[in-house]
Amino acid sequence: MAARSLLIRKTLATVLRRDSAALGAPAAAHSRGLHTFTLPDLSYDYGALEPAISGEIMELHHKKHHQTYVTNYNKALEQLHDALPKGDASTIVKLQSAIKFNGGGHINHSIFWKNLAPVREGGGEPPKGSLGWAIDEHFGSFEKLVQKVNAEGAALQGSGWVWLGLDKELKRLVVETTANQDPLVTKGPGLVPLLGIDVWEHAYYLQYKNVRPDYLKNIWKVINWKYASEVYDNESS
Ligand SMILES: [Fe+2]
Repeated sequence: MAARSLLIRKTLATVLRRDSAALGAPAAAHSRGLHTFTLPDLSYDYGALEPAISGEIMELHHKKHHQTYVTNYNKALEQLHDALPKGDASTIVKLQSAIKFNGGGHINHSIFWKNLAPVREGGGEPPKGSLGWAIDEHFGSFEKLVQKVNAEGAALQGSGWVWLGLDKELKRLVVETTANQDPLVTKGPGLVPLLGIDVWEHAYYLQYKNVRPDYLKNIWKVINWKYASEVYDNESS
């Protein structure tokens, strides 16, 4: 059990490093030897995903929600940085949930922005090449994958994420959900996120009110499959 826990921690650390690299972590800053994070820029304007996702939602989601995760993640990391040399076990343990929640929020949202693209830049174009073939093999068709993601995303109680991931150990695609801001890796150390859809109310409520299925139906029009395909090709080779 202890060995498994150590393995998961090591894997999480690897994924955090890999995600930071993949995300281009413009991110990294150093203060007193501590690696902290900054809000990544979007590669498109806030209004560029309309009408699927309103500019108002995108601006609030990025500037306020994601920024809050970054701020609170850095705060928790700084407190951890102070507590570690003191051997302050109580504080170290107390910080774990804040690090998981806010660090997860930063990781998940950084992926989410890359999973989206304006229609004029290819948003919504179904995947071709190896990822397209893998989707057909594992789910039957692209349409069946969309149905499965939408069903699981709509059924998720409370706040969380629905993912298309690659299980590197079993070499297959999976659809998973995670609660709150848990990253996909919390469901298995070999899972790599290809596509993560935020189903927190803050991602859709201003436009879709409480009708999460409508948000899920429309988000496919701006999904950036080029990014998911690149990750798939890199991780499955
Ligand atoms: Fe969010």
